Amino acid sequence: MQALPGFRDFLPDDCAVRNYIFACWREVARRYGFIEWEGPVLEPTELYKKKSGAEIVDQLFNFADKGEREVAMRPELTPTLARVVAAHEREFKKPLKWFSIGQFFRYEKQQRGRLREHFQLNCDIIGEANLAADIELVALCIDILRAFGFTEKDFVVRISDRDFWTDFFREKDVSADWWGELLQAIDKSGREAREKTAEKLGKLADPIFSILKTGGKSQKLDQLIGGLRERGLEDYVAIDVGIVRGLAYYTGIVFEVFDRGGKFRAIAGGGRYDNLIAQMSDGTVSMPAVGFAMGDVVLGELINETAHVRQKLENAIANDRNIDIYVVIAKEQRRADALAQIQQFRDRGYRVDYPLTSEKVGKQFQTAEQLGARVAVLFGDEWPQIKIKNMTTANQELVPSGELMDRLAEHL
Ligand code: HAM
Repeated sequence: MQALPGFRDFLPDDCAVRNYIFACWREVARRYGFIEWEGPVLEPTELYKKKSGAEIVDQLFNFADKGEREVAMRPELTPTLARVVAAHEREFKKPLKWFSIGQFFRYEKQQRGRLREHFQLNCDIIGEANLAADIELVALCIDILRAFGFTEKDFVVRISDRDFWTDFFREKDVSADWWGELLQAIDKSGREAREKTAEKLGKLADPIFSILKTGGKSQKLDQLIGGLRERGLEDYVAIDVGIVRGLAYYTGIVFEVFDRGGKFRAIAGGGRYDNLIAQMSDGTVSMPAVGFAMGDVVLGELINETAHVRQKLENAIANDRNIDIYVVIAKEQRRADALAQIQQFRDRGYRVDYPLTSEKVGKQFQTAEQLGARVAVLFGDEWPQIKIKNMTTANQELVPSGELMDRLAEHL
C-alpha cells in the first residue's frame, strides 16, 4: 500500500522541518500582534463554488457525506474566515489581526511545488480599509521569510493592484461583465502562449501586452512602496502589474512572493478582498479585509536549496532534538534508584532518556552520544554516589545522590 499521489508521509525528520517552519511562522505572526484561530477542514462545497472562482472549484476534493450533504475538503481558508468573521464580528475589536496554520487540499496535477495537500500560514487583517493594513501584511510576509534567514537576494514580493486594471478597463469602456475573464487572462499570461492570451484579450491585447512589457504605475502602488521604504524593506519588493491572482474575490492590492532565481512556483500570495464578507453574509456584515497565505511546500524546497537558510534550520532542529540527560544504568540493581531519579529530572523539565532493558555500558554511552545528550549520569557500583559525565568536555565527577540535581545544573 502506498500513500495517494500528492500526499506526504511525515517521517520524524520531515516532522522536524515542518515544526520548525510552523514555529517560525507562529513566532513572527505574534511579533506583529496577530492572534491564532482555526476553522474546520470540511466545509459545504457551496462555500467555494460561490466565492473562490473556477480554478479552485475544478480542484476541489469534494463528495456527498452520509447525510447527503455536498462537502469539500478545504482548498483555502479565506472563505471560511469570511464566514466566521461575519458570524462573530461583534465579539471582537476591529481591526481583527488573525493568523492560522493548517492543512489544505487541492486536486491538482502533482508537480514540483504543487501537491494535493499542503500546509499554509494565513494572516489576515479584517476591518481596516486603509492602505496601512496592506503595507503591514506585506511587511509581515517579508519578515517571516527574513526570520528563516532569507535575504533580498533570495526572494521578491511582486505587488500589483487590481484597481489599476479595472481603471484601465473603465477608461476603455469595457463592460464590467468581461472584467473577470480579462483579469484571469492577464493572470495566466506569464504561463500561457501569447497567441492564446491574445485571443482571450481580443481588441485589448495590444495595449495590455504593452503595459505588461513596460510596467504599470499608480499612486496607490507608489504609496505602498513608500510605506515599505520607511521600514527599510523596499529592496524586497517590486511592482509587477502582471500579478492578478487566480482567486475571484480580490478587489485591490494583490501580491505574490517568488524566489529571485525564478525556479519555483509562488511561495506565498494574497491581497485585498473588501467585498467577500458582505457577499458571504448576504450583505448583513460588510468589512474590508486583506491577507495572504504562505505554503510549506515551495518554502521547504527553497530552504533546501539555500545553503545558509538550510544550515540555520539544521542547527535549530539538532538543538531541538537533542536530549539533556542520558541515564546510564551500569548495574541492574540500581534500575529502581535510577528510575526514581529520572522521574525527578523529568518533573524539572529536563529531556531524559535511558535504556528500557539491560544493555552494555559502552553501548549506553554510544546511545547517549547519538541522542546528543549534554550529560550522562551513571548509576552503578559507586552508589549512593553517582557519576556525572559532561559529554562535551568528557570530564567526570562523582557526587552524592542528594546533591545530584544542583551539581547537574552546572552542566546544563
Ligand atoms: P493561494 O495563492 O491559492 O492563496 O495559495 C497560497 C500559497 O499556498 C501559494 O503561494 C503556495 O505556496 C501554497 N499552495 C497553494 N496550492 C498549493 C498546492 N497545491 N501545493 C503546495 N502548495 C500550494 C490562497 O490560498 C488565499 N486564500 C490566500 C489569502 C489569504 N488571501 C487572503 N488571505
